[in-house]
Amino acid sequence: MNDLYEFGVAGLAVMGGNLARNLANHGFRVAVWNRGWEKTEALLARAPEAGFGAFRTPQEFVGALARPRKIILMVQAGAAVDACIAGFLPYLEPGDIIMDGGNSHYPDTVRRCRELSERGIRFLGVGISGGEEGALNGPSIMPGGDESAWPEVAPYLQTIAAQVDGVPCCDWIGPEGAGHYVKMVHNGIEYADMELIAEAYAFLRDGLKLDNREIGSIFERWNGGVLAGYLMEITAKIFRKADPEGEGLLLDRILDAPGQKGTGRWTGVAALETATPAPTIADAVFQRFLNADVELRRRGVDLLPGEGVALPRKEESAAAVADLESALYAAKICAYAQGFALLKAAEREFRWPLNYGSIALLWRGGCIIRARFLNDINAAYQRDPELENLLFDEFFRGELAANLPGFRRCTAAGALAGVAMPAIAGALAYFDSCRARRSAGNLIQAQRDFFGAHRFERVDRPRGETFHADWM
Ligand code: 6PG
Repeated sequence: MNDLYEFGVAGLAVMGGNLARNLANHGFRVAVWNRGWEKTEALLARAPEAGFGAFRTPQEFVGALARPRKIILMVQAGAAVDACIAGFLPYLEPGDIIMDGGNSHYPDTVRRCRELSERGIRFLGVGISGGEEGALNGPSIMPGGDESAWPEVAPYLQTIAAQVDGVPCCDWIGPEGAGHYVKMVHNGIEYADMELIAEAYAFLRDGLKLDNREIGSIFERWNGGVLAGYLMEITAKIFRKADPEGEGLLLDRILDAPGQKGTGRWTGVAALETATPAPTIADAVFQRFLNADVELRRRGVDLLPGEGVALPRKEESAAAVADLESALYAAKICAYAQGFALLKAAEREFRWPLNYGSIALLWRGGCIIRARFLNDINAAYQRDPELENLLFDEFFRGELAANLPGFRRCTAAGALAGVAMPAIAGALAYFDSCRARRSAGNLIQAQRDFFGAHRFERVDRPRGETFHADWM
């Protein structure tokens, strides 16, 4: 039995290959398999020291693993996951464990969990964040599914995960699709974080007319403060990268048409489906669509009016930059509040009990949204595990109060200057909506009752009692 491998990695593109190397670097005996042999060969050549057992067929691969088999699939989300599972299934035995480490859509994970449990196979949907570098040196790992499998895979996953203050950025998330759902929300927050930083860039470049060197040093400075995090850090680095093919910054040569693979969109859809207000996340997705439509924007430049009001001259821009930092920080708090509200919605919709504090902890390292600020979020959920909304936590209320004047001034300045900042402005509207004593919803109810007899509740009667008026 000793010559059997303890962990199998299936799918050896960069993420899978790096994850296999990460496992081997920690002393685990790893078997690898890929649908085509070239990728296997390339991995063996790249990491000869890893001592991988490499197998050409699913049968040989599965047969080389100690029981219960532990196989992580690192293949493209969608049909490839099902095809892989179908390929291994004839050789698996009850109790064996399959983990899907891709960016799978959580309803697929729920389905696979159920289908495989009928065959006695334990399935885990394992969200992994951190890109290629994280997979090799320590990603953030979000496992969910058949909980009986967790103690068996935890020693592997928690060892290869990023570690922050001695705590692995990997912990049990919850049943069925919970791990992939949490990864999806991570990506929704990632979209919002990226959009907020991009809007700050637009404001600095087009509103305040700062040059790249000045903008880069602002991002660098911000990365030393409350906005510190991986995305801010790489943004500062982007402002130092020269174009290898010519003069100036590479950034200035990149077409302003952002791509997306779909996880942010899923988060937006989940928000709509669970009736969870998450406008900053949704705005980030919409803005990628809008910016990607280069042709429409080109026509708009010629057709649409809209010269903005000039902002302070460059020499006097320090106050506006300080306001922008406030706006970015406050909007970021709003975006995370929306992300955590989406986690709460999953608890409600799917009855997945989630530990919000522990999720904040496992996002502190390894993943794309890793940031100092997640310690504060963890602390908020330690203070109150049932916190209704992150904005209501005492620490965040203080932070919002301190940054609100700048948040408002910056949003107004962006609007006046004609710089599109939908995520920042939408976050402010979210914040103000959360604190509205009397919203404008009464007018909506009146309109609905007027045209459709949809009935309304009255402020002076108990909730649930409804009325209809003769509006004519
Ligand atoms: C991560 C990333 C990773 C990937 C996404 C986002 O957590 O490591 O989120 O999952 O970069 O696919 O990509 P898009 O921007 O293309 O949607």
